[in-house]
Amino acid sequence: MRAFGFDWQWRSSGEPLSIDDYRRAASRTVPRMVWSYIEGGADDLRTVAGNRTAFDDWWLVPSVLAGHDTHDLSTRVAGLPVSMPVLTAPTGFNGLTRWSGDLDAIRAAERVGTRCVVSTAATWSLEEIADAAGEQHAFQLYPGSEGVAAVLMRRAWAAGFRSLFVTVDVPTVGNREGERREGMGVPPVLTPRRLLDVARHPRWAYDVVRHRRIGGRNLASGNGVTAALASIEVQERHLVQSRLNWDDVAWMRDNWHGSLYLKGVLRPDDAVRAVDLGVDGVVVSNHGGRQLDGAIPSLTALPAVADAVAGRAQVLLDGGIRRGTDVIKALALGADAVLVGRPCLYGTAVAGDRGVEHVLTILRQEIERGLTLLGVRDVRDLDRTHVRPAGTRDQNEISIAAITTQ
Ligand code: FNR
Repeated sequence: MRAFGFDWQWRSSGEPLSIDDYRRAASRTVPRMVWSYIEGGADDLRTVAGNRTAFDDWWLVPSVLAGHDTHDLSTRVAGLPVSMPVLTAPTGFNGLTRWSGDLDAIRAAERVGTRCVVSTAATWSLEEIADAAGEQHAFQLYPGSEGVAAVLMRRAWAAGFRSLFVTVDVPTVGNREGERREGMGVPPVLTPRRLLDVARHPRWAYDVVRHRRIGGRNLASGNGVTAALASIEVQERHLVQSRLNWDDVAWMRDNWHGSLYLKGVLRPDDAVRAVDLGVDGVVVSNHGGRQLDGAIPSLTALPAVADAVAGRAQVLLDGGIRRGTDVIKALALGADAVLVGRPCLYGTAVAGDRGVEHVLTILRQEIERGLTLLGVRDVRDLDRTHVRPAGTRDQNEISIAAITTQ
């Protein structure tokens, strides 16, 4: 309400201003069991934390008097034109967060001019998502056995997807104790306390019962609870594959005629091997800290991977992006673009497609403001002169020497 020249709000917490505001608001919209799934990670959450703190290892180094007041953030990722170098990461079982989660992401991404990487474990089938979409998006494949991969690749191609992101960091599922502690599993373990918690989220509970979008629709059909649980079992049995190897990547390269990215690469030698096999890009990622705890933070791994790839393929990054300045640091250290996972789930949880749209808009505005303050006009002008390692003076000199001799 506007009166006496002021904007009056009845509650002190107004509209979320940052992604962290969305995170706090989102944590109140779903039961703890679901929050443990969204927010959690493997073992002691060291890599989850490291993905964030790695951004503090770098300072930005601005130029003054640059004289730019407009920015070009547009680029192409996996053959898809995007209005900014930020796409939504694939996240499975989005329907747990909000029944419409997969479609929210698609609608929001299209409104801000970017694209989604749709998960194999989406709670809307890839055909339903392609039907709802106005633009082309990318499909993320959990490759599993060759048979399952072949079927999903055929279906994705027939539905119009031309960009495939193959996730290669799930030879087994990470140890997500936080989820188990909250009773998240197949089947979920219900206690009186957990049932009470569900009852405290009536809107969420109503949507689950009404829409039944909690299982992975690419993996099993039907909309009952049994089908939903079966879909998670199918994923673990058929899509998680410890025997997956480089021959499988070669096979996928031969059998997918669109652009092909490997998601979950952290070592320069793996990135080079992937590029030698003809992939179009790699995603430097540790699965948001949900797989190998203690794995190197994505941003820490990025410079060496970018150097090794040396422009022969695209290098993307995900893990811990929460600010526009995080995107700027990733691009300065060699990424062509980034993916954001949890931030979109926060947006969906709080306000559906409008929430995801706002999250992406916040990132866009923060990137623009960051570039202005950094004295850089276009995202493609970012390079390592715009970052400097934090730490002691001696460490700085060693790191800078390492960078300038690379
Ligand atoms: C994921 N991630 C993921 N990755 C993937 O390739 N397929 C998937 O189905 C999922 N599912 C999934 C569910 C949830 C709840 C989360 C949080 C993450 C990993 C995801 O694509 C991405 O790598 C990380 O989320 C990036 O880290 P941030 O942006 O969440 O910090």
